[in-house]
Amino acid sequence: MAFKHWPGVRDARFALKISRYLRGARKRRPDLDWDEFLRVARQFKSDDMGSFPERGFLYQLAAEAPVDAQVVEIGSWMGASTCFLAAGLKGPAAKVYAVDNFQGLSMCGEDVTWYQRHFRKLGTNSTLEIFQTNFAALGLTPRAEPVVSDSAAAAQALAAKRGTIDLIFIDGDHSYEGCKADITAWLPFVRPGGVMAFHDFGSRASGVTQAIFETIKAGRFAEIVGVANTIIAFRL
Ligand SMILES: C[S@@+](CC[C@H](N)C(=O)[O-])C[C@H]1O[C@@H](n2cnc3c(N)ncnc32)[C@H](O)[C@@H]1O
Repeated sequence: MAFKHWPGVRDARFALKISRYLRGARKRRPDLDWDEFLRVARQFKSDDMGSFPERGFLYQLAAEAPVDAQVVEIGSWMGASTCFLAAGLKGPAAKVYAVDNFQGLSMCGEDVTWYQRHFRKLGTNSTLEIFQTNFAALGLTPRAEPVVSDSAAAAQALAAKRGTIDLIFIDGDHSYEGCKADITAWLPFVRPGGVMAFHDFGSRASGVTQAIFETIKAGRFAEIVGVANTIIAFRL
């Protein structure tokens, strides 16, 4: 086990980083419940899928969504980003549809090896149970609806929700073709004035950046809502 993953070291690094992040966040957005954010962050101390500014931005986007907002996430893995989204929502009917095959399948060559290594370490071939355990631990289960499916098939299955979704977060297949297909399939689900956000904009997943640029150029987004590290969000 790498030194930084030793429990004592991990906890000390976590405490230092989160207190630094929360000092700024509480000043910038005193209206948001950062204790709730901290509660979720503690559940995901070993999270290596996103930085605190990215998790904080997702939490903020969810908190800014209307009461009883309907959210779709493409690519949920163990549910860290999903929990930050769910925790930010308000209203008894608010829900995150978490679309994932939960098998780390991707058309992106580099990712394949990374996921295979992770699954070997986890000793399982699906992250669905871990996803559900994380939601249950945080008492957020009523706000999650896992959709165990390939993204394209899920867009067919959820077709009745077109034009009604308040917020979509895309973090699934990181190849150009995969991201482009997700944008094409899921843009029609966002209601006018709703938000579409992406992970890994400007990262080494250059296909994601290219697909987003093409969508900007095609005039499909009305405005940029914000950027936090590699998350970028647009209003439609
Ligand atoms: C980077 S991980 C998501 C991380 C998560 N959003 C977070 O920040 O905690 C990408 C996920 O997308 C899923 N995925 C990749 N391609 C997919 C596809 N075509 N359909 C459904 N899920 C897919 C993988 O199974 C994996 O769990």
